[in-house]
Amino acid sequence: MVVATRKVGILTAGGDSPGLNAAIRGFGKAAIGYGWEVTGYRDGFRGLAEDRRVKLTSSALAGILTVGGTILGTSRDKPHRMIIDGETRDMTDAIVATYRKAGLDALVCIGGGGTAKNALRLSKAGLNIITLPKTIDADLAMTDASIGFATALEIATDAIDRLHSTAHSHHRIIVAELMGHGAGWLTLGAGLAGGADVILIPEIPYAVGSIAAAIKRRVKAGTNFSIVAVAEGARSVEDAKALAAAQMRMEKAGDRTAKEAARAEYDLLELQHVGNTLRLAHQLEQLTGLESRVTILGYVQRGGTPSPVDRLLGTRVGSAAADLVKEGTFGVMVAARGDTTVAVPLAEVAGKRNLVPADHPWIAAARHVGTCLGD
Ligand code: F6P
Repeated sequence: MVVATRKVGILTAGGDSPGLNAAIRGFGKAAIGYGWEVTGYRDGFRGLAEDRRVKLTSSALAGILTVGGTILGTSRDKPHRMIIDGETRDMTDAIVATYRKAGLDALVCIGGGGTAKNALRLSKAGLNIITLPKTIDADLAMTDASIGFATALEIATDAIDRLHSTAHSHHRIIVAELMGHGAGWLTLGAGLAGGADVILIPEIPYAVGSIAAAIKRRVKAGTNFSIVAVAEGARSVEDAKALAAAQMRMEKAGDRTAKEAARAEYDLLELQHVGNTLRLAHQLEQLTGLESRVTILGYVQRGGTPSPVDRLLGTRVGSAAADLVKEGTFGVMVAARGDTTVAVPLAEVAGKRNLVPADHPWIAAARHVGTCLGD
């Protein structure tokens, strides 16, 4: 059924990413081109719950293509569990009310896995929702690409390139921690492109002894420095086992008390993981005798101007979303597939994660060029 759409809303949710503004502009310009009114909601789902909005006119969309972050602001707030005045509240009804009051015909939400889950819930509550894939972690299921990853990959690769100067001049180990949440795409990609000697990702638990042995082999062969690219979610074999066991207990816990106890155990393990990169560098220094240093790249990876790839992706999926609204296709994510886009039902995206498979060609390439993967 073709809906005569007149009013559309858009928001950005989750962590900021380079290319978000390109997507806002891509959707907004296409929508304005169709003669629609475009409203931007501030700070993710919170702005929708609190009805904080801005009119997105052509002039509001001008000059944002190259700007990092999001002109709308963002937050990690969930519609069904939002902290309001210190209390956790379900704001779904408030969100539905905002949508209805504004007379919206559709809402575009740009975000990652969490946004897909939240959007699915709102879609079940009756909203016409479309999501656009955004995450520097590249862990969204069902899409070839997500907004932000390409830029983060460039930044992280450039950082690894630059770390080589100090590593080889001072004959040091430099352990560089990269983002990625529970997925290793960013670290594996940047590690490969930057020629890291060791790449540690969450999908392959590591043994410190194997890493030290690889570094010592390099020293023996005449190279007395090493770059270790470690994903923030990478864990030693022992830590990964403990976490998996805690996760299992959480899933299997029968009653609420058991669930809470298992959750507390899991949270403690996550807390203990903080500082893991520093511990790893210290262990490697002890085991190899090489001086070790740590560089945590952090938010630099998702800051600043989006790369051409992300500008292009944002523009493609943003404008494709306007076409979906026009034809009345809702409850979907605009996925990138090769040079084109496809509408994937949100139910096929929400709750799924795209992790690095053991047989992925990047893993094979890393092993071929002699990179230690910690196993
Ligand atoms: O999902 C993007 C990401 O940058 C992850 O790589 C990282 O784990 C997380 O966000 C950091 O979240 P926050 O911005 O809430 O500190």
